[in-house]
Amino acid sequence: TPTRLADYTPPNFNIEAVSLDFDLNPKETTIRSQLTVTRLAPGPLVLDGEDITLKSVSLDGKTLKRSDYSLTQTQLILKDLPERSLIEIETVCNPSENSTLMGLYVSGGRFCTQCEAEGFRRITYYPDRPDVLSVFRVRLQADLKDYPYLLANGNMVESGALDGGQRHYAIWEDPFPKPAYLFALVAGEFDILEDSFTTMTGRDIPLTIYVDPGDASRAEYAMDSLKRSMKWDEEVFGREYDLDRFMIVAVRDFNFGAMENKGLNIFNSSLLLADAATATDMNFERIESVVAHEYFHNWTGNRITCRDWFQLCLKEGFTVFRDQEFSADQRDRAVQRIKDVKALRMRQFAEDAGPLSHPVRPSEYMKIDNFYTATIYEKGAELIRMLKTMLGEDDFRKGSDVYFERLDGTAATVEQFLESFEIATGRDLSQFMRWYEQAGTPELSVEVESPVNMPVSLTKITFTQKFSPASGQADKQPVIIPIRWQAIGDTGPITEPQLTLLKSKENAVSLPDMGEDFSLSILQDFSAPVILKTRQTSKDHLRLMGQDPNAFKRWEAGQTLARELIGTQAKAIESGQMPKVNKALRGYCQALGKTLDDVNFNSSFKALALTPPAATEIIQASETSDPIAVSLAGEWLSRAIGDTLHEDLLNLYHALSDEGTFSPDAHSAGRRALRNRCLSLLASRQDPVVAGLAIEQLGTATNMTDELAALMTLTKLGGKRVETSMTEFFEKWKNNPLVIDKWFSVQGMRKHDSGIEAIEALVNHSAYDPRNPNRVRSLIGSFAMANPHMFHAVDGSGYAFFTQQVLDMDSRNPQVAARLLGAYEVWRKLDAKRQGLIKAQLRHVIGAAPSKNVMEIANKTLGE
Ligand code: ARG
Ligand code: ZN
Repeated sequence: TPTRLADYTPPNFNIEAVSLDFDLNPKETTIRSQLTVTRLAPGPLVLDGEDITLKSVSLDGKTLKRSDYSLTQTQLILKDLPERSLIEIETVCNPSENSTLMGLYVSGGRFCTQCEAEGFRRITYYPDRPDVLSVFRVRLQADLKDYPYLLANGNMVESGALDGGQRHYAIWEDPFPKPAYLFALVAGEFDILEDSFTTMTGRDIPLTIYVDPGDASRAEYAMDSLKRSMKWDEEVFGREYDLDRFMIVAVRDFNFGAMENKGLNIFNSSLLLADAATATDMNFERIESVVAHEYFHNWTGNRITCRDWFQLCLKEGFTVFRDQEFSADQRDRAVQRIKDVKALRMRQFAEDAGPLSHPVRPSEYMKIDNFYTATIYEKGAELIRMLKTMLGEDDFRKGSDVYFERLDGTAATVEQFLESFEIATGRDLSQFMRWYEQAGTPELSVEVESPVNMPVSLTKITFTQKFSPASGQADKQPVIIPIRWQAIGDTGPITEPQLTLLKSKENAVSLPDMGEDFSLSILQDFSAPVILKTRQTSKDHLRLMGQDPNAFKRWEAGQTLARELIGTQAKAIESGQMPKVNKALRGYCQALGKTLDDVNFNSSFKALALTPPAATEIIQASETSDPIAVSLAGEWLSRAIGDTLHEDLLNLYHALSDEGTFSPDAHSAGRRALRNRCLSLLASRQDPVVAGLAIEQLGTATNMTDELAALMTLTKLGGKRVETSMTEFFEKWKNNPLVIDKWFSVQGMRKHDSGIEAIEALVNHSAYDPRNPNRVRSLIGSFAMANPHMFHAVDGSGYAFFTQQVLDMDSRNPQVAARLLGAYEVWRKLDAKRQGLIKAQLRHVIGAAPSKNVMEIANKTLGE
């Protein structure tokens, strides 16, 4: 039975204080916990626990007999407790055998924890729910030689030697009340990178990053990002850091990106370590944004947390919005917006168009782990962005000030969040709440009737919204849609930018006769997460590509044209027709050529403009399609661009060559992105000259962005050279796990000549490790998400292999397995043959008695 929002009840007990004592041993760790509990409501004290061994329970100093409490697989229940009492619990767990990577586990010989969402119950019996906040005191003891660093949340108050120096201990106190999911401890041997930050009130905060021995210099970019984040949060949101120190730890085995534990963030090493030789520009960019994201959680997540897990978007949506804004300020705002919208369309729109569609605030779940989704994170962030668009910068800041003021130290709800903005601005945001409750992507259609000349000549613009019935919930109400728009003529804008708030199903606005032909630029900066339907023709798109002052819309006009071209071409390929060259295609390629020459655009923008939409975007936006035809159509369009702009691309490739010293800044990264984009488009022509360029680039590259781009270009060109290059790359980097992950992901995306056996062989490769999520995602994730030719092979071999890998993963790590299985969410958008194949696979998964995590995804995806 699912957990339901409607069933929420507040806890019966408050935990005034908790004291934890860890005796750390890899195979057997003993945890003694002392809880000071006070009654809030009648009823028992319910403590959660999973996969741990209970040794003893005592109440106010008296050991309880087995008949004094009830114990199930998942709960320890104490009845008839007094108003206030001291509960002492001793448990034992085995961190070295913990392959779920939730709770306390060992990674690379070090102890670490992951408690969000429900991992703390794998450490000790506790009310593992976000609305129970407590102050934690933590004592750690461990062997000194293997675990010289002993870390936990807050401030270290004491440390010393034990057993004549063999073991040692440390005591940490976190003065800020927090729910258990924000607890963390780390113990082990590390290299450290140290720095400090002076806050707006002049407090000096030591900052420390803990990494594998030898990696300290690779943490410099993360440290720099951290300091910039701390400053930005003071300047933009008025938020100052609160504890006396801030720590980040990098670990190799981690279920997702990173975690905002109070004062002790824990990161997947792939999102923390970077240098020119081993990390791509995309890695640098991600590190900057994730370091910021986790740091920003200190206010949006930790100081104000969530009442229950249905409110997850309260902290995640807001924090993603904050990290997106940070990146926009650090880099290029228009480019950042384009990248965020691209990611939204690829992941969130796909989710909303498929069987796993759910509201930003869901009303029920089986496993909360399955709800760390693009909808909650990325659509959640879009909702905050719309709120800001509607309120304006000043009122938005007023609202967030009220939110931080009123709800600090509490576990809050989405309603309380919106209420803060209502109090600050006097606006009524009740309709806005629908965005949180209704699943699916609304469609926005625009009709233009021009001009009606009575009494003056007017153009009527009608905006209409519609939810497609496919997305679950019947009976959807209109949402409020902020629409930024502008009329654009042949030589530029002919109106100012307008903001129309569409509140009901339909709304019309009118424009006086402009005396010239124009196209509407609608949803500038993508002012709402909707699917836009217009009657615009390629003439409109080309006009916007050339004249729209809004850079996002210029990019978008090109994408729209490209989507149409690829869609039409895919249908032609499916029905066995030859590729056609038409006027729209020529116009599109020429417009791209003009963009390339335009000095008003930076290289990052140009690289994005030259990248047609990914196959998943096309598939998600059509009824059904053959995924291989779509991907061939995409290749066809790239080839057309390559053919048309051949000379420009080649010249640009040479003109943009390496400037020498590496810098990860946005400008240099943009130059590399554009240059490698040129290389890739030239490669689409199967041009032999390009093979030479790629081989040379592979041999001479001084940074991983260029090296990896050259390697990928070679795999695209195919031929004998590929195997040698792959082997050489492996040999060169075999001692760097993060680079070997990249190697596995290139292998996963390649169209191997020998078919699925090639991927099977990689699973048996000596460097493949099925227990390491990064490695599994590199190979199996990239295979399922970015290798349409092999994954969607019409004989079903790709699906069969993939299913087997998911089930194998499920036996160790249900969370990661369930996430991988999400690759099947696309099935309804595929042709009948593949639909049948995937449905059979999903039934097989269900029949294999998988974990609750995988079962929920499989059942929902199949939808039977
Ligand atoms: N709160 C973390 C973050 O967004 C992610 C935690 C993910 N947890 C999970 N069970 N998937 O920064
Ligand atoms: Zn987060």
